[in-house]
Amino acid sequence: MNTINTVRELRAAVAQARAEGKKIGLVPTMGNLHAGHAALVEKAAQHADFVVASIFVNPMQFGPAEDLDKYPRTLQADQQRLIDAGCHLLFHPNVEEMYPGGMGEQTRVSVPGVSEGLCGASRPGHFEGVATVVTKLFNMVQPDLAVFGQKDFQQLAVIRTLVRDLNMPIQIIGEPTVRAESGLALSSRNGYLSDEQRATATVLYRSLQQIAAAIQAGERDLPKLIAVAQQQHTDAGLRADYLEVREAQSLRTVSPGDRELVVLVAAYLGNTRLIDNLSFTLD
Ligand code: PAJ
Repeated sequence: MNTINTVRELRAAVAQARAEGKKIGLVPTMGNLHAGHAALVEKAAQHADFVVASIFVNPMQFGPAEDLDKYPRTLQADQQRLIDAGCHLLFHPNVEEMYPGGMGEQTRVSVPGVSEGLCGASRPGHFEGVATVVTKLFNMVQPDLAVFGQKDFQQLAVIRTLVRDLNMPIQIIGEPTVRAESGLALSSRNGYLSDEQRATATVLYRSLQQIAAAIQAGERDLPKLIAVAQQQHTDAGLRADYLEVREAQSLRTVSPGDRELVVLVAAYLGNTRLIDNLSFTLD
């Protein structure tokens, strides 16, 4: 696996693979890779002949008080994980390469509707930063397909929407969330947690499962289900951001008759913001 830093080298390597008739898959990441990222690369390798991963900690998607500076950077371990997962090329640009004119006058991509509320409410500008950098990566690589995790459910919805709205000929594949045995969704931000906090955080997935099971069993008092779960989170020492049930495709609030639902949570444990979600179908 080659690691390259420039758009020029990236375009040359992809052009060669394409000339060899290969189907191109892309997996964008911010590095500090874990088994969740590896699953995306493995999925891409099943569907494409030439897999490009990117590692870029995108300043545009971080708020001023967020963890941009302390976001973990672990290139060597990441390279090994990518090789093991079947990646062919790693694109690892610096900020200057991605934003040569600076970020101030950079064209931005905004995706209204689906990026509002949930994480969009507590992280203003976040999804614009994500949509902009992912659009740039799509234009640089021009992949046939790209794989994203359902762990970032709203992000996946934003990307599906921008690909549809901007007529990008790219197949978007959503990969299920990879979890620790405890149920905790793997996340680079789990590294900020102590062992004790990591045990505490498992309450999030347990309450998502409880809410989904209750709705599937016929409970329709969603505010009550949510209040019970929020109390569990508070008792465990978490600080609530949001906990909501939404329609899974549109992320709109639930209407009677909706069958595809998702329950999404974000909460703080100390200074660490954790997110998780669980989608399910009513029959
Ligand atoms: P990052 O947080 O590094 O995540 C990269 C990809 O890995 C995303 O598609 C994310 O949903 C997926 N992922 C993370 N944890 C996962 C898990 N436990 N199981 C399955 N997939 C998981 O998301 C970003 O980076 C950035 O916003 C990015 C899309 C790269 C744009 O900068």
